[in-house]
Amino acid sequence: MDTQTQAKWDKAAPNFDVMAGKGAEKRWRPFKEELFSQMDGKILFLALGTGLDIETFPSGKTITAIDISPRMLEVAEPRIASYPGELSARVMDVHDLEFADNSFDQIFTSCTFCSVPDPIKGLRSLRRVLKPGGQLFMFEHTGSSYYPFKPMMDLMTQLTRKIGPDMNRPTVDNVRAAGFQLREVNNLFLDVVKTIKADNPAQ
Ligand SMILES: C[S@@+](CC[C@H](N)C(=O)[O-])C[C@H]1O[C@@H](n2cnc3c(N)ncnc32)[C@H](O)[C@@H]1O
Repeated sequence: MDTQTQAKWDKAAPNFDVMAGKGAEKRWRPFKEELFSQMDGKILFLALGTGLDIETFPSGKTITAIDISPRMLEVAEPRIASYPGELSARVMDVHDLEFADNSFDQIFTSCTFCSVPDPIKGLRSLRRVLKPGGQLFMFEHTGSSYYPFKPMMDLMTQLTRKIGPDMNRPTVDNVRAAGFQLREVNNLFLDVVKTIKADNPAQ
């Protein structure tokens, strides 16, 4: 377990809803809803955080959620309890998943790979627990390839990574580098907020 990352997000947990729950989350909500509407089969959700995303999950699904931060999951408890379906949450580091190979039909991530310290290792770990032919669905903010956003985001990341996410990750490249086959990439807000759909190729 990466205790440094865990401590960072435990510290962010009490104020996370105030910081995230209003502006950006409201704008992102319809896109998250559309992405999560594709949930089907046995699902792994990474990372649940305080559970702000739960309201956008379709009802009646079977979802195993993880997060590295026990304090985040404590805040999420009432939202988990009110989900009309099977939703369970466990403290787990994506770099070191405790699930057997080929456990899930689909994996969803939400604003996570800006925060995971070694994204390619984390994505390879997701591939291991996803069935061959299984699907990865991501809602992620990423770095920009355009001037002046790129240098601005590189600069901002020096500050934001101390308390939370990196703003400048090349997540689409990371997905490919981890061995997934990209199916669809949609730019939602400039090129900095994206949905990414990819498949775990059959071995
Ligand atoms: C920006 S928050 C997003 C939370 C939630 N998905 C949302 O959009 O409201 C990032 C989350 O990733 C979790 N996280 C960071 N590194 C992780 C890791 N290595 N394994 C599992 N979860 C991790 C943090 O604890 C935090 O809850």
